[in-house]
Amino acid sequence: MLRRSLIAAAAVSAGSISLPAPLAAQRGRRGTSAAPTLSQPKDDTEKRIQGVIHDMAIRGGTWASVPTDDGQWLRILTESVNAQRVVEVGTSTGYSGLFFSLALTRTGGKLITHDIDEGRSAQAKANFERAGVSAMVTQVLGDAQVTLKKIEAPVDVVFLDADKEGYVPYLDILLPHVRPGGLILAHNTDMVPLYLERVQRMATLETVIYTGGGGLSVSLKKR
Ligand SMILES: C[S@@+](CC[C@H](N)C(=O)[O-])C[C@H]1O[C@@H](n2cnc3c(N)ncnc32)[C@H](O)[C@@H]1O
Repeated sequence: MLRRSLIAAAAVSAGSISLPAPLAAQRGRRGTSAAPTLSQPKDDTEKRIQGVIHDMAIRGGTWASVPTDDGQWLRILTESVNAQRVVEVGTSTGYSGLFFSLALTRTGGKLITHDIDEGRSAQAKANFERAGVSAMVTQVLGDAQVTLKKIEAPVDVVFLDADKEGYVPYLDILLPHVRPGGLILAHNTDMVPLYLERVQRMATLETVIYTGGGGLSVSLKKR
């Protein structure tokens, strides 16, 4: 275990992190097809967050988490809209949350992440602590169809990655809180045809579907 941590630390301090191919398979249900590489860390904060990301992947500490390449998309999209408030539905063990955190260290924003599972939420809490990002993350435990009703506006980025039948109700709850110019992101696009149909039909949204990785739809709220 210790040796693995040291290898991870060495990879991080070397400036780039390559995940060996078997790790992609280990990530299981979503899988990635190639060994992904994280971007060059810009400072010690990023180095620390990336170290936990790497460590989670190495140790199988993810659970149905986004492939690393999709995580990079989450980070870049979040940073590009200078997000101050990100709402995630489906924390799991915090893997995607750490990619949001990489962006939020730049924008000064916050992540509010919802999950119904106590055990995974506890693991996420530990991972956020280890990464040093707890101050920018609020975890909400419970059924998101209930807990999301307490969300405060304005929201800059929404990320849907929980129960697939919940995507349309989650959109209905959250869309009025998303600011114009904000983004609604949804993962596993091949599993949510009704959601995709809905966002593509809405005149207030411009949607593009990225079919690589686990499948990600990106909807821009235009007004
Ligand atoms: C696909 S995983 C999330 C993966 C995470 N975004 C990541 O990439 O690391 C889905 C999560 O949604 C949670 N979930 C399922 N139904 C939910 C509900 N009704 N309310 C809140 N969370 C829910 C599950 O407990 C699970 O942890």
